[in-house]
Amino acid sequence: MEKVFRSFIFNNGLSLKNRLVLAPMTTYSSNDDLTLSDEEEVYYKSRSKDIGLVITAAVAVSKNAQAFKNQISIRDERYLESIKRLVKAINEGGSKAVIQLHHGGRMNQPNLYPNQDIVAPSSIKASREYAVTPRELRNSEVYDIIDAFINAIKLSIKAGADGVELHGANTYLLQQFFSPNSNQRIDEFGPTLNKRYKFIDILVRRSQEVIKKYATKPFILGYRLSPEELEEPGITIDDTLYLVDNLAKAKVDYIHLSTSSYNATSIRNTSDNELIISKIKKVVANRTVIIGVGRIESKEDIEDVFNLGYDLAALGLPMLANPNNVKRLENNENLIKEFNKESILPSKMFNTLKSWEEGLKQRGYTFK
Ligand SMILES: Cc1cc2nc3c(=O)[nH]c(=O)nc-3n(C[C@H](O)[C@H](O)[C@H](O)COP(=O)(O)O)c2cc1C
Repeated sequence: MEKVFRSFIFNNGLSLKNRLVLAPMTTYSSNDDLTLSDEEEVYYKSRSKDIGLVITAAVAVSKNAQAFKNQISIRDERYLESIKRLVKAINEGGSKAVIQLHHGGRMNQPNLYPNQDIVAPSSIKASREYAVTPRELRNSEVYDIIDAFINAIKLSIKAGADGVELHGANTYLLQQFFSPNSNQRIDEFGPTLNKRYKFIDILVRRSQEVIKKYATKPFILGYRLSPEELEEPGITIDDTLYLVDNLAKAKVDYIHLSTSSYNATSIRNTSDNELIISKIKKVVANRTVIIGVGRIESKEDIEDVFNLGYDLAALGLPMLANPNNVKRLENNENLIKEFNKESILPSKMFNTLKSWEEGLKQRGYTFK
């Protein structure tokens, strides 16, 4: 059997039935009270039948963490039942469930915060049209946010999850702490490289402590990151090599590279032809597991992914278009790239994807 369809075991003993992962994808479809909706439950069940690991949509760890409307929350005990349903939907299909823990920071949608502050490491506006200038977090509030993540991990353990992924990618709060663009603090959390890493350092260590204390079965801690930022100043590949070296030293269970393509090169230095994964693999070596994502759409791509040194392959859009696409890959059939009734997506998620139709067409995805 090909490597991808062989089982995979993490260092702590968690076992996956194959090496494919559902990439974390926001559904924009929770109930208005931010609990899991029935439509989401059906969607997760349908995606869990053939894949080894499901990473959930970004789940907000506190009230001021919420970035999008109808984003699932894990802010306190009142959300435990909802997260239990999420985990159950995934586990019943035969897949392992990892909850992606998220705080939006300065990327939170302003319309969710009428007359309230949006908080971030520094009072610096993101270069996005909709963004507003955030309020700089007080030192004690930074520790409150770390506490919120730790509380969310306790709840994830209680809900029976198989792990959590700290969302340190895609410009959100953890990335904002690491970035010289969004973190110009002059306290223990910035502005030098090792101080910009401090938030992540404390968070990872405290996460491991709480897992050790409360988990009663193998429970993994993953970290997702975006290797570079285009902004000046912005995260460079050298910064990221420092980050992954420290994450490997800290013994996180995996590092998940959020790139638009698994074989991406630098977006900052376009004359550098060395693949990002090759630079990262040289530093990380075999100290931890690496998940690749972005435009993985055939068996040949998956083979390439493993040859480049990734251990697991995450699929985003291919898994949204049709729940049978893993089986199709296994059977050497082409992926279905049409969004239609068989896609089994929550209606608000379908509508959001439909609003991106022009862009998705360029990747070969169509709508019916
Ligand atoms: C609808 C949608 C929602 C997404 N939401 C998240 C998210 O909540 N967290 C995250 O880390 N990435 C998110 N992503 C990025 C995906 O995890 C993935 O990295 C990206 O789609 C590239 O993989 P692909 O080429 O297989 O689609 C989202 C992508 C899509 C299409």
